[in-house]
Amino acid sequence: MALWSLLSTLVWSPGSVLLMLVLLLRLSVWFWHESRLWDLQQCSTDLTGKTVVVTGANSGIGKAVSQELARRGARVILACRNRERGQQALSEIQVVSKGNCLLLGQVDLSSMASIRSFVRWLLQESPEIHLLVNNAAICGIPKTLTPEGLDFTFATNYVGPFLLTNLLQGALQRAGSARVVNVSSSRHAHGYVDEKHLTGAGKPLAFNKNYDCSKLLLTSFTGELARRLQGTGVTVNSVEPGVVYTEIMKRFSWPYRCCFWLSSIFCKNVKQGAIPVLYLSLAKELDGVSGKHFSSSCMITLPAKTARDPQVAQRLWDATVQLTNLEKMD
Ligand SMILES: NC(=O)c1ccc[n+]([C@@H]2O[C@H](COP(=O)([O-])OP(=O)(O)OC[C@H]3O[C@@H](n4cnc5c(N)ncnc54)[C@H](OP(=O)(O)O)[C@@H]3O)[C@@H](O)[C@H]2O)c1
Repeated sequence: MALWSLLSTLVWSPGSVLLMLVLLLRLSVWFWHESRLWDLQQCSTDLTGKTVVVTGANSGIGKAVSQELARRGARVILACRNRERGQQALSEIQVVSKGNCLLLGQVDLSSMASIRSFVRWLLQESPEIHLLVNNAAICGIPKTLTPEGLDFTFATNYVGPFLLTNLLQGALQRAGSARVVNVSSSRHAHGYVDEKHLTGAGKPLAFNKNYDCSKLLLTSFTGELARRLQGTGVTVNSVEPGVVYTEIMKRFSWPYRCCFWLSSIFCKNVKQGAIPVLYLSLAKELDGVSGKHFSSSCMITLPAKTARDPQVAQRLWDATVQLTNLEKMD
């Protein structure tokens, strides 16, 4: 009897009630996210014999995407910055997906030299590429210049994917039918375009505005590349994964990280965050669909007005070609 009364006191203590409410809330949020997402299990796309490249594949969304693509039989090239972290992810994905066609490639997307050397290796490994997922990104970094004179955030989130995709254009076209998926963010709508930002010049940006602007540039690039690739069999689209609890905030100060942790109860988990990216990568109904922007619930949506402006996109394209010395192919 004494034990029973002790248990009921514990169960109904304010702490336990709060814990139950939190768990209930977390469960409701999970169901809410699930109900709005594309049903991955209903997709029968098989990737046997296909080669896919995922940047930033060692953590968060990139790792979850790579795992699902490997499970579907693809030869997955994990394009990672750090060899040890990449190797660790490769071993984990291998166990879970039983994929025996995983390859680790080392690339630092903030470095044009590193991208060019990665592409040389990649094209020897695989002259045809069926899917490129430009997923890697950073945020929370103040203005810093790379040794090549680019702003670190813009280099990683925009110039890197621009150069990588362009250097792989031949391999994508050789595949006959291929997709490029650019992982953007709803934050792109808060950015603006100023080509001078690419080299750390231009109007100073408030805290983390560089992330917003870099994602706007990536979204604008998606539309321009789609226009240029019309009729080649290569499609390119951008997508917002939603708010996902990953390591994306690791460079922020601890109060921000603490807030992110507290709000994680409302966030998607990594598997849920990977679904919109997988939708663009796998869904059969997207065959031939190009130049579109997708919301985190996998719906075609209009990106910010600036991202839809072809003149802005053309200007940005020309500036980036010059900056990356793209005409000078190795
Ligand atoms: N999480 C969200 O709420 C959210 C919301 C909107 C959009 N997104 C977008 O989703 C994508 C994936 O982010 P995530 O949330 O999964 O974050 P994450 O766990 O931090 O993953 C980012 C990945 O990018 C890699 N990376 C960073 N800089 C790189 C560089 N210079 N070269 C090569 N790889 C580099 C990281 O490698 P290291 O481990 O070596 O750092 C990591 O593997 C990003 O494009 C992000 O902007 C995320």
